[in-house]
Amino acid sequence: MKLIVGFAFASTLAVVAGLCIGANATSITLSQLNQAVPVRASDSSCASVSTPDECAPNSRAVAAINSAIAKYGVTQRGEIVAVISLMAYESASWQYNINHFPGRPGQGTRAMLMSNFVEQYAQALYPAQAAQALGGGAATDAVLNNVRALVLNDNDSFGSGFWYLVNHAAAYHNAADKLRSGNADDFKDYVVNGVGAGWDDGRQTLWETVNGALQI
Ligand SMILES: *[C@@H]1O[C@H](CO)[C@@H](O)[C@H](O)[C@H]1NC(C)=O
Ligand SMILES: *[C@@H]1O[C@H](CO)[C@@H](O)[C@H](O)[C@H]1NC(C)=O
Repeated sequence: MKLIVGFAFASTLAVVAGLCIGANATSITLSQLNQAVPVRASDSSCASVSTPDECAPNSRAVAAINSAIAKYGVTQRGEIVAVISLMAYESASWQYNINHFPGRPGQGTRAMLMSNFVEQYAQALYPAQAAQALGGGAATDAVLNNVRALVLNDNDSFGSGFWYLVNHAAAYHNAADKLRSGNADDFKDYVVNGVGAGWDDGRQTLWETVNGALQI
């Protein structure tokens, strides 16, 4: 829903469950996500927003996020915190699934990918359906929106930030000096240089909340 430019997202002991500083993770828990994105802890929280049809509570988000973590092999804690922070910011805590301000055709998913990335994402996941939707003609607003519709389901929409990291910002994925666990400067570097989005205090505040929540 925000104006997005370019996106267009210490322990050495084994971790039993959930995330731990400095360690790899394979999933997050609903309890952690509720602390990270408290406004969406309640299943009924979506009833009172202006876009209830687009809104998803954490109980839906957590399954889709864990599916994406496994699908894209994003297991570094710093990467998971970054992607969740980015998507929560872009979607106003899972309220929006498509761009509303100003309402760019084809822009959407929880990472609020720009339409060119949405198109690539849809083509990667559903090549036949994407080709059919694109049709080889002019990319009208309706065409862009039809392509976007292919990836607005929970798994794909909440997976978009992970897909982007792995496929379009690969230098930030599994890198020793990028998106280090608990490192706010690394997150800012990712937002500005990996995603090409603007930085503001709201992103920092949200990252701090998510970073504090996603650990055991
Ligand atoms: C964490 O994941 C990375 C990337 O998959 C891997 O290189 C590293 O060995 C893992 N670390 C641990 C402690 O499992
Ligand atoms: C979402 O992904 C999970 C894990 O891959 C899968 O079990 C589930 O069926 C998917 N949901 C939908 C609606 O496709």
